[in-house]
Amino acid sequence: MPQSQAAPVQHPIRRLPSHLANQIAAGEVVERPASIVKELVENSLDAAARHITVILKQGGLQLISVQDDGLGIPVEELPLAMAPHATSKISRAEDLAAITSMGFRGEALASMGSVARVQITSRNVGTDRGWTVYGPAARDKPVPAAHPQGTSVTVQELFFNTPARRRFLRSERTEYRHCEDVVRRMALSRFDVGFELQHNQRSIFKLPVADTPAAQAQRVMRLCGPAFMQQALGLDFQHGDMQLHGWIGLPQAARPQSDLQYFFVNGRIIRDRVISHALRQAYADRLYPGRHPAYVLYLSLNPAEVDVNVHPTKHEVRFHQGRLVHDFLVRCVNDALNQQNDSSALPYARQPLDWHTPASGNAPVAGSSSRPTANASRLAEASPGYAVTAENEAVGPFGPVLAVLRNRYAVCEQPQGVILIDIPRLQADDLLQQFRAQQATGIARRPLLIPLNLNLGIDAAWIEQTRDLFEQLGFDLGVSGKESILLRRTPVLLERMDLKQLVPAWLGEVARQPSPEPAMVLQTLARLAPRFMLEPWTTLDLNPLLASLADLDNPLAHVAVALLDPAAMASLFRS
Ligand SMILES: Nc1ncnc2c1ncn2[C@@H]1O[C@H](COP(=O)(O)OP(=O)(O)OP(=O)(O)O)[C@@H](O)[C@H]1O
Ligand SMILES: [Mg+2]
Repeated sequence: MPQSQAAPVQHPIRRLPSHLANQIAAGEVVERPASIVKELVENSLDAAARHITVILKQGGLQLISVQDDGLGIPVEELPLAMAPHATSKISRAEDLAAITSMGFRGEALASMGSVARVQITSRNVGTDRGWTVYGPAARDKPVPAAHPQGTSVTVQELFFNTPARRRFLRSERTEYRHCEDVVRRMALSRFDVGFELQHNQRSIFKLPVADTPAAQAQRVMRLCGPAFMQQALGLDFQHGDMQLHGWIGLPQAARPQSDLQYFFVNGRIIRDRVISHALRQAYADRLYPGRHPAYVLYLSLNPAEVDVNVHPTKHEVRFHQGRLVHDFLVRCVNDALNQQNDSSALPYARQPLDWHTPASGNAPVAGSSSRPTANASRLAEASPGYAVTAENEAVGPFGPVLAVLRNRYAVCEQPQGVILIDIPRLQADDLLQQFRAQQATGIARRPLLIPLNLNLGIDAAWIEQTRDLFEQLGFDLGVSGKESILLRRTPVLLERMDLKQLVPAWLGEVARQPSPEPAMVLQTLARLAPRFMLEPWTTLDLNPLLASLADLDNPLAHVAVALLDPAAMASLFRS
């Protein structure tokens, strides 16, 4: 039965009173104490502060006070600071095209003033007196107040007049954690500014200005924890107008949550799909499912290339050349991860980036990974070089691998003694078998996300002639210059190798042969590949490899093995 409805009532269109309009607008900017902290600290940064102190009580629910030593506000402008659409940061439409300040909407203080009790005290640069105004809209005249040069803004009784919003706030602890995170982000974004955070009268941190690379690393360690810094790579890349520097966590230090991911664009913290996609892609082949990379990265580019006016909290941006930025990030992070074993790579040295804009159409490829997924979290926690074997592993004829020494030898224990296995030789054998098996049905290949341009120092004519040999093994390559090639697809069997190093080494060796044979080309590849593993060996990787030997009659005879029998061990300690 249809329900009876009340007759619709038509209401006239009316202009909202300004306090109501501000309250609605405030919903976009002032969500919780942390959003106030963010806006106030941004204002201090825009005022060229060198030191910023954030004081909180009860997670910011009772009090938020941000004090700075910036330029201050002239007394005659103080009443305007809290008025809607009042800003000193832009004055013409053209200014919107290249914003360099954190704020520009002239909304933040007005929004706060409409939902909390706000007080601003400021002493302008070059004056000898401070002044205070009280919100909202600071109708009253400024009154004199003692204050050093700079500005203090105090926000109390948040949402006193909007109880519905107050109910959305969480516990003091949760709100505090959000505030702390904001200050952490700000402190990571500006090493040239000192930051201090106090909560409930306790000093949480005091960070002096960090003007040397060592002091900056120290600050990152203070804010992100020593565990992050101990397993992070420093990077610094430049391409044209774009520069990327910062720290990325090693794949083995990846985390179960995406909670340590800080990305700054021109000093502004950003959450952006283009960026997170690029980072995920750069790490993709190196992470176990469900793990997230940790990073603190700074991208700077021409302000005209990025639009920050797309979201009220300015957390999102639009890149005019999103694809270029995306591929630049993938390439930088990839290169840095590939170089992790190269001890000549200096952590803080700027590296010239041999990088080109890839042809379009290199869509990300979903594909299966041949990595083990079981025990992934335990594996990620194991320290490289030594790892204790998990129980219930599939193990081969040598028993479980107890440890990996020098990233080269697997240690197993058997009744006849302790066995050392030379992993690269074992892996070379395994690769050879697998390539041969796949050749019968067709080698599994995968396109590279960004084709690799490799300068080989080998005549292109020779590559053209011998190309077939490489294609039979699953490589799709084309000549891209007099002595260079473009690698587009590679065999899945080599997905854990650093192809940038492996392929030149391999082709270099093949080119030295007067007439290369297919069998020799494959053998050379299998022999060289284990030297260019992207990640250190772990016991969990090795057990499946050793299990593959189970079918052999006398495995000891097939792989490079050294046996230390009990008598030999005892003789080592006989006096
Ligand atoms: N700490 C401060 N030091 C000096 N001037 C300040 C400070 N805080 C605010 N002001 C002045 O008050 C004005 C209004 O600040 P408000 O945060 O409301 O807007 P905005 O920063 O211009 O833009 P947005 O709404 O995007 O933050 C600023 O433009 C600036 O001139
Ligand atoms: Mg502002």
